[in-house]
Amino acid sequence: MNFLNDKILNYSIEKSSSPSEVCNELEEFTIENHPLHRMLCGKLEASLLGFLINLSGARNILELGTFTGYSALAMAEALPEDGQVITIDKNKKISTISNQFWNKSEHGKKIHQLFGDGLEVLSSLNKKFDLIFIDADKRNYQAYFDKCLDLLAEGGFIVVDNVLWSGRVVPDFIEEVEADKSTKYLVEFNDYISEREDLIKTLLPIRDGIYLIKKDEK
Ligand SMILES: C[S@@+](CC[C@H](N)C(=O)[O-])C[C@H]1O[C@@H](n2cnc3c(N)ncnc32)[C@H](O)[C@@H]1O
Repeated sequence: MNFLNDKILNYSIEKSSSPSEVCNELEEFTIENHPLHRMLCGKLEASLLGFLINLSGARNILELGTFTGYSALAMAEALPEDGQVITIDKNKKISTISNQFWNKSEHGKKIHQLFGDGLEVLSSLNKKFDLIFIDADKRNYQAYFDKCLDLLAEGGFIVVDNVLWSGRVVPDFIEEVEADKSTKYLVEFNDYISEREDLIKTLLPIRDGIYLIKKDEK
């Protein structure tokens, strides 16, 4: 769910730096051809990710949840020439779409795709990342987060998507919609993060809710 009125959202998108034309084509292709296109992070979140990459000077990015490769390409576009996005997904079939569009972009070469179960692939990584974007299955959010915290470079930060889950995490916000299992996992995850005093965090009610989290290194 979008918490913003569509006119406000579109105005905000118009006034923001946006991903490239190839990225827009990839988004449109996904909307037209994939039944789960709602999983795309969308233009405003892609713009925010690009801004955060630019602001922080991030060079090494890890993404959990590639889908059709939209957010990976948007992040790669914001990286310098020597930057890299490593993106993980369990679904290999869908990579025909991501590769088709990444190959059309000069930034596609910055993306390295890994296939497999997120937790297993995370355990096999032995480098540090400046930004980690968690956007895969909600059941594993807390386990992903714990592993990702160990993979963060000094000063690095984690961005976690969908933490408001269309507002379901807020009791009584949506009437007549049953809380599904993901709601339970996300409520637990948000409580887990908010209660940790070793973390600096802010939850933005943009798109489906975006949690920005970093270690308190003071
Ligand atoms: C919300 S989509 C990612 C959207 C993408 N970040 C974007 O904005 O364009 C979530 C992805 O997570 C993947 N996924 C789900 N469970 C997973 C798991 N256990 N390990 C790895 N990937 C998983 C799904 O296959 C799906 O492509």
